[in-house]
Amino acid sequence: MSTPAAEHAPGLAPTDGTAARARGLTKAYGSGETAVIALDSVDVDIARGRFTAVMGPSGSGKSTLMHCLAGLDTVSAGQVWLGSTEITGLKDRELTRLRRDRIGFMFQSFNLLPTLNALENITLPMDIAGQKPDRQWLDQVIDTLGLRDRLRHRPAQLSGGQQQRVACARALASRPELIFADEPTGNLDSRAGLEVLGFLREAVDRLGQTVVMVTHDPGAAAHSDLVLFLADGRIVDEMRRPTAETVLERMKRFDVIRAPADGGARRSDGPAPDED
Ligand SMILES: Nc1ncnc2c1ncn2[C@@H]1O[C@H](COP(=O)(O)OP(=O)(O)O)[C@@H](O)[C@H]1O
Ligand SMILES: [Mg+2]
Repeated sequence: MSTPAAEHAPGLAPTDGTAARARGLTKAYGSGETAVIALDSVDVDIARGRFTAVMGPSGSGKSTLMHCLAGLDTVSAGQVWLGSTEITGLKDRELTRLRRDRIGFMFQSFNLLPTLNALENITLPMDIAGQKPDRQWLDQVIDTLGLRDRLRHRPAQLSGGQQQRVACARALASRPELIFADEPTGNLDSRAGLEVLGFLREAVDRLGQTVVMVTHDPGAAAHSDLVLFLADGRIVDEMRRPTAETVLERMKRFDVIRAPADGGARRSDGPAPDED
């Protein structure tokens, strides 16, 4: 078996390669007449060392896409690779191990243990797995996230933004190849949300991580390098170098037009190339 994790050396130019890939990814819930097609033959490449945002109306399949890419959920059809490892078809035990070693998660709720302090929360997954954190990496994560003087605090003694930063550090602690964040700013006020987005950005720019983030907030998406737009279980558009304005403009068209002809809503100076 190959060891793609070795590619992820410090100092490596972070923009080459594909961190995760799906082909014909289809996910149905239920069967027969009540079946819901949450993902409909999705092809996607997640670039290594980049910050990718996933947007789309509620129910469009964003969380399902993240879960399938991360090996948290089985697929109905199609293939998913993490680096060069095909994860569809792995046995449960192999998948669990791969998730533990190569993927970090952040969710809307921070899921911190109230009785542990920040540092203990950060290293908990590694402690459970019997792994020793790489001290130098952990220090870098803690400093990048500005948590140095909060390590002995318990979650209740931290602000929402600080708690989410701890959750972010926990996701980063084992130096995973890929971080998935599902609406990580959904429970934060705008200032705390900005903090967390700033760190995800730094995790990519300074620590060379790959981040995939679901958000419904155009301002949050503007921190990413690339936005993927999902609708009805398909990727219908993408936008490079997004700004809050161009993303908002694109989102509005989900509400306005579902017609094939694009309805003339495009502005001449408008957002990036759409479907042509
Ligand atoms: N466990 C499940 N059982 C049945 N249907 C589900 C389940 N999870 C998601 N779905 C359905 O799949 C579709 C996509 O859901 P989801 O990926 O959560 O969308 P999003 O994150 O974009 O809001 C929705 O129609 C949702 O109702
Ligand atoms: Mg969701």
